[in-house]
Amino acid sequence: MNYQILKIQIADRIAVVTISRPAALNALNTRFFKEFNHFLDDLEPRDDVKVLVITGEGKAFVAGADIAEMVHMNSDEGYAFSTFGQRTFDRLEQLRIPVIAAVNGYALGGGCELTMACDFRIASKQAKFGQPEMNLGMIPGYAATQRLSRLTGLGNALYLILTADTISADDALRIGLVQKVTEPELLMVEVMKLATKIAGNGSQAVVTSKRIIRAGIAKSFQEASELEAIEFGRQFDDQATKEGMKAFLEKRKPEW
Ligand code: CAA
Repeated sequence: MNYQILKIQIADRIAVVTISRPAALNALNTRFFKEFNHFLDDLEPRDDVKVLVITGEGKAFVAGADIAEMVHMNSDEGYAFSTFGQRTFDRLEQLRIPVIAAVNGYALGGGCELTMACDFRIASKQAKFGQPEMNLGMIPGYAATQRLSRLTGLGNALYLILTADTISADDALRIGLVQKVTEPELLMVEVMKLATKIAGNGSQAVVTSKRIIRAGIAKSFQEASELEAIEFGRQFDDQATKEGMKAFLEKRKPEW
């Protein structure tokens, strides 16, 4: 596919996708979702990529769904626009490998929703978060009504969506929406350090942990713990687990 919005770099087991439509603050349109799904089609079967990083070009991460595209929609088109976005973000959330949002600037509306479909968020001090849809007389459409409360609790989700307030990276850190805040010029340095660290961990253990943590949300505590026990047992057939423990006992670095 001839990408017009996505810039993709893959090196040293890490894929970095930069959303690049800075003239519209990287607003998410149908073209973006087509390109992003195409990118996921290519990424999903690859064994050599261990971590995905998503960031934005310019002063925004993503300033929301594309208002210029939405303004002409009727209810059927609005529903299709929402479900296409939701399905894409579900797919991202369920990606086997960990996904880090490197939030360089505005992450508003659909942009904040995109960060929430990633596994965690590292933000520049300049980043701003929010669900400003109320200012447009609308509700969020890419699952903020569900993911925001799961990540930050009911009160914070209701507060952010009903007020449409935009919050700083430090406030986002305080409510658990963001895991780490960096100086703007250090954002990608910090994110690549984290990505490299995760890429260097036993890859099966990383992938299995992500899967169980995410699957557990939809299960009872007992069912989810049983899933953990099954996977915990299964890993003893895995050479990487044996090597990790042997390396510890032999006081050396594991060779994965
Ligand atoms: N959609 C389309 N275009 C957008 C956009 C969006 N979400 N956000 C910004 N742009 C465009 C602007 O229209 C402007 O284009 P022109 O230069 O052609 O006029 C350009 O990007 C630069 O934006 P501003 O001049 O507004 O930049 P600013 O620095 O003054 O303000 C901002 C930045 C506060 C982020 C402001 O652009 C803004 O409020 N954007 C809209 C944020 C928003 O409401 N997002 C939610 C969208 S709805 C949604 O996402 C629903 C959903 O859940 C699916």
